[in-house]
Amino acid sequence: MWAFWPELLDEIGKCEKCRLCQGRTNAVPGEGNPNADIMFIGEGPGRDEDMQGRPFVGASGQLLDRMIHAIGMERTEVYIANIVKCRPPMNRNPEPDEAQACMNYLRNQFVLVSPKIIVLLGRVASKFVLGDETPISRLRGNWILKKGIWFMPTYHPSALLREPSKKREAWEDFKMVKAKLLEVRGNGEIQN
Ligand code: URA
Repeated sequence: MWAFWPELLDEIGKCEKCRLCQGRTNAVPGEGNPNADIMFIGEGPGRDEDMQGRPFVGASGQLLDRMIHAIGMERTEVYIANIVKCRPPMNRNPEPDEAQACMNYLRNQFVLVSPKIIVLLGRVASKFVLGDETPISRLRGNWILKKGIWFMPTYHPSALLREPSKKREAWEDFKMVKAKLLEVRGNGEIQN
């Protein structure tokens, strides 16, 4: 049973479905254009995101913003969310049961936004959305079409900050995303 935005955001804000609620300052449901053609999915909020209740506002968020810019878009045009909506302690990866407990919120966001393209940022997002445990270095750069949505796994921005040599491949992936967006929109221009 799907909820509309106000109920969904309200439910996420008071969620106690898993242990991650115990450490949160704010839940981080996601933000952006509710009718976006592209969604970006990260892993889970970090410290800055937990403080502000907004996704990708720390160092990796600044890099993500630059990458979105580089394909000719603004952050406000896309929708950005995470696998889990509450910060895992010490920024550890979400446990499978935590991701599972949160997955219905993300599915609901997929239904409401109805994006044409979903960019999966890193191994954790790819694993929980696609159910594919292939290392991200092999999974990235390949389109996966599922239920009419194009999925592109790529590196997480924090991996790019740790290993800048991966930026070239990530840029290749983002160029493919831009090209796919033009293709699915059936025109030669990015629309605002
Ligand atoms: N890393 C993520 O995966 N998500 C965020 O929102 C911030 C950092």
